[in-house]
Amino acid sequence: MKIAMVGAGYVGLVSGACLADFGHEVVCIDKDPARISRLQNGIMPIYEPGLAELVSGNMRAGRLAFSTDLAESIKGAQAIFIAVGTPSRRGDGHADLSFVYAVAKEIGANLRDPAVIVTKSTVPVGTGDEVERILRDSGTKAQFAVVSNPEFLREGAAIGDFKRPDRIVIGAEDEFGRQIMKEVYRPLFLNKAPILFTSRRSAELIKYAANAFLATKITFINEMADLCEKVGGNVQDVARGIGLDNRIGPKFLHAGPGYGGSCFPKDTLALLKTAEDYDSPVRIVEAVVKVNDSRKRAMGRKVIEALGGPDATRGKRVALLGLTFKPNTDDMRDAPSLVIAQALIDAGVEVMAYDPEGMELAQPLMPGVTMCASPYAAADGADAIALVTEWDAFRALDLERIKAVVKAPVMVDLRNVYDPAEMRAAGFAYMSIGRA
Ligand code: UGA
Repeated sequence: MKIAMVGAGYVGLVSGACLADFGHEVVCIDKDPARISRLQNGIMPIYEPGLAELVSGNMRAGRLAFSTDLAESIKGAQAIFIAVGTPSRRGDGHADLSFVYAVAKEIGANLRDPAVIVTKSTVPVGTGDEVERILRDSGTKAQFAVVSNPEFLREGAAIGDFKRPDRIVIGAEDEFGRQIMKEVYRPLFLNKAPILFTSRRSAELIKYAANAFLATKITFINEMADLCEKVGGNVQDVARGIGLDNRIGPKFLHAGPGYGGSCFPKDTLALLKTAEDYDSPVRIVEAVVKVNDSRKRAMGRKVIEALGGPDATRGKRVALLGLTFKPNTDDMRDAPSLVIAQALIDAGVEVMAYDPEGMELAQPLMPGVTMCASPYAAADGADAIALVTEWDAFRALDLERIKAVVKAPVMVDLRNVYDPAEMRAAGFAYMSIGRA
């Protein structure tokens, strides 16, 4: 099947490459000529494990191409995916749909063959109706259906998530839409991935409900961690103790510095906006957003406490290990490190940092922070080390080497990577999350 993927960003690129790998003929379209020409030369715009190899392999096999020409690329495509960005609109937190609608208009103006238009971008309930209206108004004579097919992939594990999904959600209003989508995902059908057909509006809401629920789960365990610190409990035992209950499940119960990234912060805000518009408040999600925001600031204070409190910070130096919002990505969007670094700088602390992939994108966002060549270089002369992102490279640090270069062996482990008893035995003053 010929497939057009409009938007060669994170979701578009991963989805396009994976669909090509299933054997479909895919063209990824982007209006940014520099991005397209880099992709044609095998240069990825993002860091995602396995993506470069997947793209080059499928290009060589003639199944994957890149273009800036939408009109030409959608000719003969039976499925045209819209996978452009839906950032938070400045000021009100609504998802900004201008890119989605602009693409729908352009598709409408050029659509000659029967096709399903699929929104893969995360879009608020009712967006599919509007896309359909735009296509009708465009006067196209071609048969078309508008379908919602939300994406659930995680950065850093995106290819595995796409190829072995927990489920595929298809929101379609007619048989034509359902049939074409079955063809698109036939290879996964064969793998027995459950495909859930729903109405378009339900599919749109499923995406937001899923992300809001996961954000809630994380925030819940984060608050339990705070309580553990007060009552003398261990949040990892609590997480295991509740996670073994099948109704709760063990995943997304890892306490940390608060969720970040391109999805949870943006999608929870957009859900709140939808709830407000429809006068149907989702108070739990309101609380989650507030708690998570204040948590990032609280993490800055936690590091300051480790330095001896707000009166003891002047002239001190902290090494931040990990800057990206999570490992295996270079994404810095809404990363807790941004807030933590700022809190430290405001307190007069000198901040050194190391991240395996994120420093290039991080530097302009944290101009006051000095980027270092290794964790040991960052730790040189530090009064405390704060482990902010759990990259594998930080799981087996040479503690003797660290101790030899730091000014004081103090570690604030915001991801509970290390064992408190072992750290104490190694001579560190060690603080972590939710472990008294
Ligand atoms: C998230 C969802 O997990 C995907 O299913 C969804 O498709 C995606 O958003 C999206 O909407 O596009 P992602 O943002 O890539 O994926 O990252 P996650 O692995 O979900 O992590 C999000 C944040 O939660 C990170 O800051 C992470 O450190 C934090 N987190 C996650 C925790 O603090 N504890 C956990 O137990 C899990």
